[in-house]
Amino acid sequence: MIQQTLILIKPDGVKRGLIGEILKRFEQRGLKIIALKMVQPTKSLAGQHYSESIAEKHGPAVRNYLLDYVTSGPIIAIAVQGADAITIVRKIVGSTYPGESAIGTIRGDYAHASKEYAKKNNQGQNLVHASENEEDAKKELALWFSIDEIHDYKRSDEEYIL
Ligand code: CDP
Ligand code: MG
Repeated sequence: MIQQTLILIKPDGVKRGLIGEILKRFEQRGLKIIALKMVQPTKSLAGQHYSESIAEKHGPAVRNYLLDYVTSGPIIAIAVQGADAITIVRKIVGSTYPGESAIGTIRGDYAHASKEYAKKNNQGQNLVHASENEEDAKKELALWFSIDEIHDYKRSDEEYIL
């Protein structure tokens, strides 16, 4: 199924000079970049993105940390489109805790914080966010992009990648 999904290169990815490297992985896999921008997120935007459900999942301390983390500098917001894009993007990104992420994934290649460290300190910088399911993707795309910021065009290699 052709899907659209949201990716954020979080402030650590931007500050470490990994924008090109991260973007390349989605682009080369054949996902079509349909929107792209640099944003300094406000606390309000970050709070809408990481809603209370994150506190239910990981505890309030993690949510508070996350809001500080994602507002600590500019991020790159990216929308991509492609066959099964939501699942493919999550696979390219890797597991939540970089120490558990497979080599070859973005988190597995460029970060190494362990789950133990994240749990103990209620924090974990892991370079990228990616929507988890269709409902989240729809909500998150609408949060970060207006309709006129999302573009439609044909990639020259579509016959090989779809
Ligand atoms: O990003 P992902 O969907 O893999 O994980 P999540 O469960 O939705 O958690 C959102 C983010 O919270 C993670 O990407 C981490 O940056 C952060 N987190 C953390 O800082 N400390 C934890 N113990 C767990 C998650
Ligand atoms: Mg998540």
